[in-house]
Amino acid sequence: MSYTNKMVVLALTISTFMGCKDNNQVAVLESKTENSIEQKVDSLLKLMTVEEKVGQMNQYNGFWDVTGPTPTEGNAEKKYEHLKKGWVGSMLNVKGVENVKTVQKIAVEESRLGIPLIIGFDVIHGYKTLSPIPLAESASWDLEAIKNSASVGAAEASAAGINWTFAPMVDISQDAKWGRVMEGGGEDPYLGSKIAQARVNGFQGDDLTKPNTIAACAKHFAAYGFGEAGKEYNTVDISGATLHNLVLPPFKAAADANVKTFMNGFNDLNGIPATSNSFLQRDILKGKWNWNGFVVSDWASIGEIATWGRAKDKRDAAKLAVTAGSDMDMESYAYIEELANLVKDGTIDESLLDDAVKRILRVKFELGLFEDPYRYCDKAREKEVIGNKKHHDAVLDMAKKSIVLLKNENNLLPLKKEGQKIALIGALASDKNSPLGSWRLASDDNTAVSVLEGMQKYKGNNLVYKKGADVTVGKTAFTKELHINTTDKSEFNDAIAAAKQADVVVMVLGEHGFQSGEGRSRTNLQLPGVQQELLEAVYKANKNIVLVLNNGRPLAITWADKHIPAIVEAWQLGTQTGNAVAEVLYGDYNPSGKLPMTFPRNVGQTPIYYNHKSTGRPVPMADTTMVFWTHYSDVENSPLYPFGHGLSYTDFKYKNLKLSKTSAAVGEAITVSVDVTNTGKLDGKEVVQLYIRDFVGSIVRPVKELKGFELVPLKTGETKTIKFTLDDSTLGFFDNNGNYLVEAGEFKIFVGGSSKTSLEANFELK
Ligand code: BGC
Repeated sequence: MSYTNKMVVLALTISTFMGCKDNNQVAVLESKTENSIEQKVDSLLKLMTVEEKVGQMNQYNGFWDVTGPTPTEGNAEKKYEHLKKGWVGSMLNVKGVENVKTVQKIAVEESRLGIPLIIGFDVIHGYKTLSPIPLAESASWDLEAIKNSASVGAAEASAAGINWTFAPMVDISQDAKWGRVMEGGGEDPYLGSKIAQARVNGFQGDDLTKPNTIAACAKHFAAYGFGEAGKEYNTVDISGATLHNLVLPPFKAAADANVKTFMNGFNDLNGIPATSNSFLQRDILKGKWNWNGFVVSDWASIGEIATWGRAKDKRDAAKLAVTAGSDMDMESYAYIEELANLVKDGTIDESLLDDAVKRILRVKFELGLFEDPYRYCDKAREKEVIGNKKHHDAVLDMAKKSIVLLKNENNLLPLKKEGQKIALIGALASDKNSPLGSWRLASDDNTAVSVLEGMQKYKGNNLVYKKGADVTVGKTAFTKELHINTTDKSEFNDAIAAAKQADVVVMVLGEHGFQSGEGRSRTNLQLPGVQQELLEAVYKANKNIVLVLNNGRPLAITWADKHIPAIVEAWQLGTQTGNAVAEVLYGDYNPSGKLPMTFPRNVGQTPIYYNHKSTGRPVPMADTTMVFWTHYSDVENSPLYPFGHGLSYTDFKYKNLKLSKTSAAVGEAITVSVDVTNTGKLDGKEVVQLYIRDFVGSIVRPVKELKGFELVPLKTGETKTIKFTLDDSTLGFFDNNGNYLVEAGEFKIFVGGSSKTSLEANFELK
């Protein structure tokens, strides 16, 4: 039976079921308005058995157990059986039109009700054509570019049959030790919220039924980024104020942007695993925020509620998870094995299932899957869209915008285009795999343009390449070898010899692309392996070094900052890495990126973040020999590079900071304006940043908080007046119980090109 026929039969069944004499229900099924979606969902729900409801809440991996431990149960045969019975609502990691069609066909044509599957995939920074890793993109502070980058990922993934991405990850994190900082928007909730919205809008577009848009997923709800000591899958113990002021804002922003799904996390929050956390999912997300999408668990995290020791077994875990509002089970087999019995023996109420299923069906209707379950299965589109020129141009653009110039003494950069002898050193310089970064399940290995290839396009110079040393002994994604750094220094001498002959040495050093990401926490933030030794050895031969960093997290490069004249933060920039780096090094692109995370001087400073609180002893005591104030004995308090830091090949000057009033009533808005001038010799872009400090609060307030920014293009000599508005939405904060307060008192405003700002003014809120 064809799908259309099946839907008509379904519609008629619904009509009969509802006692309708005419075919109104058919009309309902064909109409697209939101109301009618609710009616369709309700009608369909009435036809479903308990097992079919549970089926919608069950998600299976597509026979390719890649992002988690291989399930002990659930072989392919069993999964096919369940698909036929309508016991599967979603699959993940099925990709490619042919594969998606295969599983969709079973669900739609062989199951009793023919409800289509929603097909999920981790489209984290692109599908096949890769954008920079999300942390790098966040360094652009360019919301349009970030949105566009997500839409490129959506276009390619949807062309491969996928209609749901497990992105964006909107976890705020202040700890560079955590490997997953590469996947987020950095440490700041204001910037993180804007980026969350840009990404959701990029994935979902303005019409979810379009074949090139996909449902997004805000993850991991909540506080996964606050794992103790930056350790993966670890416990989280934070205050209510930290939760409400730092963790939740990007999730709220995603919900406001109408994100269709949320994913919970592997962490607990103050003793309650996120997956069984009613406070987060029922009270806040579905209660206070009144959000009507569905929550998917993280991989096997429902079963892990028992491993945490919060449930006694899988059955107990399933009960807790569904009660807490986890709507779909990703690969725990807890719902499929336990939920129906829990309903039948009266342990849980069927209405819990109804609520979850309605949420899931609603998204499927919104995606247009009931109209055409094969909407994303167009072979011609798959061929035409994936990897097309437009996408390569877009990811190159994003890559250039993501680069941060950390240091540029004596204008060593940009390089001259002719007549220079350049030694390019470092295994990462010729690597075509590492720049693709972590989380790139659909891209082909070794498809990045390497820095070497990018630089070779500039033919006016004499370029010599030497590896010097590898980074790690392993190169594949999922093995521990990645954490074993090489000790082989046998090629140091070649590199040193090349450096001696060169006018300028470009060294590409840092982490391999698979050294950050899930399961890659580190306790050492220095250059891995023998790279620091290589850097110092080459420095002895030639001090004219440009250090190009590749990394998925802030690194502690204190020695390099002290000695190396030019440092470029180039992260892992995706498919077009080498072209982007070369354009920046040679000055064809003037960098404008700013750090979305603070760079520490050493690992002991982490977690380190700009928006820390004042303490009772923040400054050295009058007698500077005294030790009794907030500091370390062996390193200064300041970071190596502050949040928001990033240079340009031109210079910007800030002046005329003005406030529309210096005193305002609570509820009134204040306008802040500042003149920014490009005083250098090149056109460029500056991220103008506005911070506030609320001096006295009913709970201690941070010393600085970002409350506005604008990416401003400025031609050489040009001045622009930039305006920001501050009002209740930016001047208030949440207390420990989640109440939003705007309190009278004195505030300071700071404006500048980083969190170490240049201009200040005060005002009072009365
Ligand atoms: C990760 C999620 C991801 C899921 C599916 C988990 O291990 O934590 O972020 O979406 O796997 O691949």
